[in-house]
Amino acid sequence: MRITEKYEGSKETIRQITYMEKAGVYVEELSRKLGRKPSCCVTTFGCQMNARDSEKLVGILQEVGYELTEDENADFVIYNTCTVRDNANQRVYGRLGHLNSLKKKNPYMKIALCGCMMQEPSVIEKICQSYRFVDLIFGTHNIYKFAELLVKMFEDDKMVVDIWEDTDQIVEDLPVERKYPFKSGINIMFGCNNFCSYCIVPYVRGRERSRSLEDILHEIESLVSDGVVEVMLLGQNVNSYGKNLEHPITFAQLLREVEKIEGLKRIRFMTSHPKDLSDELIQVMKESKKICRHLHLPLQSGSTRILNAMNRRYTKEQYLALAAKIRKEIPDIAITTDIIVGFPGEEAQDVDETIDVIQKVQYDNAFTFIYSKRTGTPAAAMENQVPEAVVKEGFDRVLKVVQDTARERVSRLEGQVLDALVEEVNEQDDSLMTGRLSNNTIVHFKGDESLIGQIVPVHLKECHGFYYLGEIQE
Ligand code: SAH
Ligand code: SF4
Ligand code: F3S
Repeated sequence: MRITEKYEGSKETIRQITYMEKAGVYVEELSRKLGRKPSCCVTTFGCQMNARDSEKLVGILQEVGYELTEDENADFVIYNTCTVRDNANQRVYGRLGHLNSLKKKNPYMKIALCGCMMQEPSVIEKICQSYRFVDLIFGTHNIYKFAELLVKMFEDDKMVVDIWEDTDQIVEDLPVERKYPFKSGINIMFGCNNFCSYCIVPYVRGRERSRSLEDILHEIESLVSDGVVEVMLLGQNVNSYGKNLEHPITFAQLLREVEKIEGLKRIRFMTSHPKDLSDELIQVMKESKKICRHLHLPLQSGSTRILNAMNRRYTKEQYLALAAKIRKEIPDIAITTDIIVGFPGEEAQDVDETIDVIQKVQYDNAFTFIYSKRTGTPAAAMENQVPEAVVKEGFDRVLKVVQDTARERVSRLEGQVLDALVEEVNEQDDSLMTGRLSNNTIVHFKGDESLIGQIVPVHLKECHGFYYLGEIQE
């Protein structure tokens, strides 16, 4: 069967499919030279959105004839990069050196870079100067053109660079290869309009665009018919989903429709901005049989003064009131959060306020980050940057409270029997399986691979900090 017959879709989709066929010819040629199927390795940095993008890249790579491997000593290596904090960038530069040494040994090897970091002009400049061995560079807005860019890479001898500043395009129905057969991320929107003053995401991911309800439902339905039981709806701020659609709808309405899909068992979503979380959403979550008992509600700071400087558009009191309302309506919910320590102007009292919120909300988990200066954001130009030693002290204080609170909070389930979706064989001990509760807590228990993808009742016997050891309840 020709590829074109497998996918329906827009003019652009059809264009890209033609390029897949063309790239397929080049890959076949390479195959003959190598005497085997060429291998490819996609390494993902950053968030779930990037992970989903990587699945799209892999879908196309497999379509054109590459074999997927986890080994970076491959014929085609792609880094899908993140630039949210500087350490993400440094990791990419560090690993590129190693790739260069592999490339010297494999004359057919190609290297591509894509993702958020590539949307920064200074990064492109640096790569063009110091990393000349890279073959292809593209950004976040033109990832749907990957097949076309592959063809260009095969045809051009020099580095191919294609970066767009923004886009209003959403190209549907291209092939995707899922990492897990039983669960999948689904983009419901792209970009971000919030411009939190420390954050680079709106600059590298562009303006907010929602996918249509029909496209989302259609994608989930076809995933479910392909064995998916859990979906994670993805967006930088899912609570503002649908506002700019031709027929505007709310995120809560979208959830109601997703809930109706037969065969789908679990619904998750990321991320919720506290300023837009509606009562309607709380109601839908409360009534739902499928929406997981987990809400990621980034706090960033507990100090109203700092929140204001961060342009988060809520106060400490508003956040606390929201968390209390959610807890009252959905008592068994796990709330997790993101916290930044060391934002410009932050003082010890501000950190105390953050700690106060952690203690009041009782998070199941909190990802704590040291503030990282991102060029081009308003916060980077603020004069009152906090000295490293002061940041470190605040960070350690916050981390200690986060860990103590989370440990206690997670342990409250000890002795209960709860449903877990079995996800994989335990990495350390292959007699154990690893599953995930509705509230996102991990549990390990005896079992075998045949259980993967099933939802089983598990007796939570012992809490070990952030996870459980349990036993399947027969
Ligand atoms: N859209 C999501 C967050 C995306 S980035 C939201 O608004 O919640 C994920 C997390 O990275 C953020 O929640 C924030 O805590 C952290 N982050 C973003 N920019 C940062 C920076 N410059 N320094 C440190 N942490 C940052
Ligand atoms: Fe960044 Fe704020 Fe947008 Fe989240 S909501 S991606 S933190 S600007
Ligand atoms: Fe990083 Fe881009 Fe996600 S900057 S956090 S990969 S949106």
